[in-house]
Amino acid sequence: MYVGVDYYPEHWERKRWATDAKLMKQAGFNVVRLAEFAWVFLEPEEGRFEFEWLDEALAVLRKNGISAILGTPTAVMPAWCARKYPETLALQKDGTRTVWGVRKNNCFSSGAYRLLSERITRAMAEHFADTPNVIGWQTDNEFGHPVCYCPSCREEFQGWLKQKYGTLAELARAWGTHFWGHRVGRWDEVTIPVDGGSHNPGAGLDWQRFFSSLNVRFQRDQVRILRDLCPKHFVTHNFMGLFSDLNYYDLAEDLDFVTWDNYPVWGKPEVRYRSSSAADVTRGLKRKNFWIMEQTAGPGGWGSFGRNPWPGEIRGVAYQQVAHGADGMIWFRWRTCTAGREQYWHGLLQHDGRPLRRYREAAETARELHKLAPLLEGTTVKTDVAMIYDYDSIWALRLQPGFGQNDYHNALHRYYDALQRAGVSVDMVKPGADLSAYKAVFAPDLHVLPDPVARALSDYVAKGGVLVTDCRTGVKDETNLCHARTLPGLLSDALGIAIEEYESIPDGLEFGVKAKTGFAGDGTAVHYADWVTPKGAEVLAGYEHWHLKRFAAFTRNNFGKGAGFYVGAVVKEPAFYDALVAAVLKTARVRPVLRPPEGVETTVRAGRGRRLLFLINHNETPTAVSVPAGKRELLTGKTTGKELALDRFGVAVIRLR
Ligand code: GAL
Ligand code: ZN
Repeated sequence: MYVGVDYYPEHWERKRWATDAKLMKQAGFNVVRLAEFAWVFLEPEEGRFEFEWLDEALAVLRKNGISAILGTPTAVMPAWCARKYPETLALQKDGTRTVWGVRKNNCFSSGAYRLLSERITRAMAEHFADTPNVIGWQTDNEFGHPVCYCPSCREEFQGWLKQKYGTLAELARAWGTHFWGHRVGRWDEVTIPVDGGSHNPGAGLDWQRFFSSLNVRFQRDQVRILRDLCPKHFVTHNFMGLFSDLNYYDLAEDLDFVTWDNYPVWGKPEVRYRSSSAADVTRGLKRKNFWIMEQTAGPGGWGSFGRNPWPGEIRGVAYQQVAHGADGMIWFRWRTCTAGREQYWHGLLQHDGRPLRRYREAAETARELHKLAPLLEGTTVKTDVAMIYDYDSIWALRLQPGFGQNDYHNALHRYYDALQRAGVSVDMVKPGADLSAYKAVFAPDLHVLPDPVARALSDYVAKGGVLVTDCRTGVKDETNLCHARTLPGLLSDALGIAIEEYESIPDGLEFGVKAKTGFAGDGTAVHYADWVTPKGAEVLAGYEHWHLKRFAAFTRNNFGKGAGFYVGAVVKEPAFYDALVAAVLKTARVRPVLRPPEGVETTVRAGRGRRLLFLINHNETPTAVSVPAGKRELLTGKTTGKELALDRFGVAVIRLR
């Protein structure tokens, strides 16, 4: 198992490097990530390379048994690049160039930038291919910025569209340019849809896809070189969890495995379900375990900084990720830098460089993880429940949420959090993925629903699956046109309903939701209400307001061997979703190992005949959990009784098998 830190030897005098490496070794760290912002130190002038300092840093680390992941340093362009090739600086919406001196501000279609990126990648790959302690690469850093509006990006967009649609007639059909007379007569008349609120929604969705593809292509150019010259090394990238300006499935495709950067310690302590779902999304990108490339090590902030991770939190936050499938843990950063924009983004060490509390806690965690490693090997999160995670829907909803508060991740979390509270883990899968391994599938806010995906979902239910969908599902096709069908379109049979009308609920209005017999989820509809007419479906909850009394708010339909649930409203109370999840799990015959008490998170990692139950206490108070007795708790080595006491922010790993 690799455990370590993000390290910036270029921030410190050389005579400190040996001390750093020794302290890392003492902490049980065996890996660092290096150099992802060091382009100008590696290529001080165009075409002149200086690797000696990095060779030395790597040698010092190696002496202490520490391996390294090198970043291709293209997230920060050297000053000479901006001076010699000003077109490499992204053009902003207002027509001005980004100013050099920040980071992530290059144009991805600039030929010069692509060549320079290939050159430094090649030079590094050639130089470090056989450095014994280099084990892998991180491409660039946190792809996703900036969006560039320059003429070259516009031309590439036009070319991309031509490739995709072939003819202008097909483009006109796909985007529906009969509206507002937006038909173009030549490809070079196509503009970048700069105004997401006014431009054609089809153009907006394609622009987002195009932007994503530019990043994917830029990475692919680097990956090709790395694969060619460094066949022994892995190639990865540090993703950003629920960040969704790029199609992460595509970005992950060229990599060996995915890593992500996790910074959850901000407000008051609470269950950090957004870090859990982000981990599940990350694991879903390649259906494979992942690493944490940057893990919370201290208070973070660029101007003012946030809360310090309290005693136990550094460990708890790390275990939460292991519980969701992390197989590597790298803390950001080693030592807090005295200079630059991130002076207040604290590392394990403070500015003074002394190994104090945060260092000790990470070291304790590292030691435990090394001990657990042989048992973790070959295991991953095992669950019967999947959720469809879809970038097209996220993007289409950003352009037009329908009802104002329609946020994809909020919708997802209404179900996700209830599942976590029930002790049920989630696999995130892409639309169109094979669902046959799952007893239940949640498809929240699946707004863009191409016909083949709708048919596959329907089929999944027919064959015995349990599907949960909700309002605004299936409104759009893959080009962001509205389906010319009564909602829920091709899902009508599986869900046994028709939605002929619907409405946004303005702030200040609320409609009661009343559960019918057999369902326990009363609540309040806010933001949105579908006027659902059952066509065979059983009504689990209806509306109370006079104008909605005839309609259903929540339904369940038996279809083939399975069942389709439909949630027509946004319900304010989390308890509604708890009741909903209970009903769904019962129908799908999914039984979690245990239902955790409030503030405790649980997952199961299984494989190679082992089953490991993780318990993470996000509470600042000790919490007791009823657990299977007579099993071994791996961190203390003790045998479990019927109840296990978790410390504040405490963690337990119980070997069930
Ligand atoms: C990440 C980034 C790091 C560092 C950190 C704290 O997004 O990858 O380089 O900037 O945030 O700001
Ligand atoms: Zn550009």
